[in-house]
Amino acid sequence: MARINDHFLKLKAGYLFPEIGRRVSAFTESHPEKAANLIRCGIGDVTEPLPEAVREAMHKAVDELGERETFRGYGPEQGYEFLREAVAKNAYQGTCITANDIFISDGSKCDTGNVLDIFGPGNKIAITDPVYPVYVDTNVMIGNTGEGDENGRYEGLVYLPCNAENNFVPAIPEEKVDLIYLCYPNNPTGASATRQQLEAWVEYANKHSAIILYDAAYEAFIQDPDVPRSIYEIPGAETCAMEFRSFSKNGGFTGVRCGYIAIPETLVGTSASGDTVLIKQLWSRRTSTKFNGASYPVQRGAEAIFSDAGKAQVAALVEHYMGNAKLLREACTEIGLQVYGGENAPYVWVACPEGLTSWDMFDKMLHEASVVITPGSGFGAAGEGYFRISAFNSRANVKEVCARLKAHL
Ligand code: MLT
Repeated sequence: MARINDHFLKLKAGYLFPEIGRRVSAFTESHPEKAANLIRCGIGDVTEPLPEAVREAMHKAVDELGERETFRGYGPEQGYEFLREAVAKNAYQGTCITANDIFISDGSKCDTGNVLDIFGPGNKIAITDPVYPVYVDTNVMIGNTGEGDENGRYEGLVYLPCNAENNFVPAIPEEKVDLIYLCYPNNPTGASATRQQLEAWVEYANKHSAIILYDAAYEAFIQDPDVPRSIYEIPGAETCAMEFRSFSKNGGFTGVRCGYIAIPETLVGTSASGDTVLIKQLWSRRTSTKFNGASYPVQRGAEAIFSDAGKAQVAALVEHYMGNAKLLREACTEIGLQVYGGENAPYVWVACPEGLTSWDMFDKMLHEASVVITPGSGFGAAGEGYFRISAFNSRANVKEVCARLKAHL
């Protein structure tokens, strides 16, 4: 019999969102009369149509593929230069990152999971708690952890607690770690990190030759001009950070799939024999072996996000979702709940009413209000006692969710 990867057996239950999906399906099957009224504010999935500039660019690209003269086959594994140039110019001007440092992919979820391919065993890995579950599960799958306990905490990982006291930005650890996952604006708490906080992390990482895996998938939602949009705004990040970004949430690409990683020329790791190795070189090698590039129409669509029309249309989408976040914050505050996030991120993070656990709150909202939220404990032990409301929805649905929150809490 074929031998399986035993590390998978350490994983707890299902991945969070399919697990929520299963519970919601069971509910709608047993309460069909309520299914029609169900509003989903669980997974952070966009609801508004693709920007017109993106659609036009994708249509044009498909037409090009339909003509012999303009047809294209395999593209460059790293991504087309037109898109890498657009990213460098629009997202990284004034930083160390150039078009050569950008790797286009089919999204940040894959990138943040796949990145472990290039890191060896024995790294001490720090993750925030609560956290985007992909970071933990992919470390479990690859064998970087021991067993998990009943709260879903895995032996061998260094957990960095994020709570209301530290504004959901972790304190610098006392011990030395090698890889640090940071996500700001944060999923799930909606918190943002200040320049000083990021400076402290960059200083720590450089001091310990650690690498920060900086997930900036929600950068477009930052409203406060003082909040850094990229880790590369922080001097020193060029020797200690790689950054993950996505077109999913700003451009509505959750179903289209496109993202990218920035890896500076100066970022290095060490081999078992003590040699210094360029991280970018390893990622390039990994990419050309395991990936044939995001599709041409998708990359043309992503490029259009940086056109004048695309920028204006994306700004309107961000304004729409952040307007939703504001309404959700106000409704929760009005009913006396303690609310966090939702100011520089499309997620509102709310303390559960006294006496209710995260899953109690999930069940209550599902059964009494026909609203799907995400239980905070699904993001880690420190998420217990909180729930997350996604602001990705239509305005009408968000208004209805606000009314139902007020009616049922
Ligand atoms: C979430 O709801 O946390 C996100 O949609 C998950 C993701 O982007 O993969």
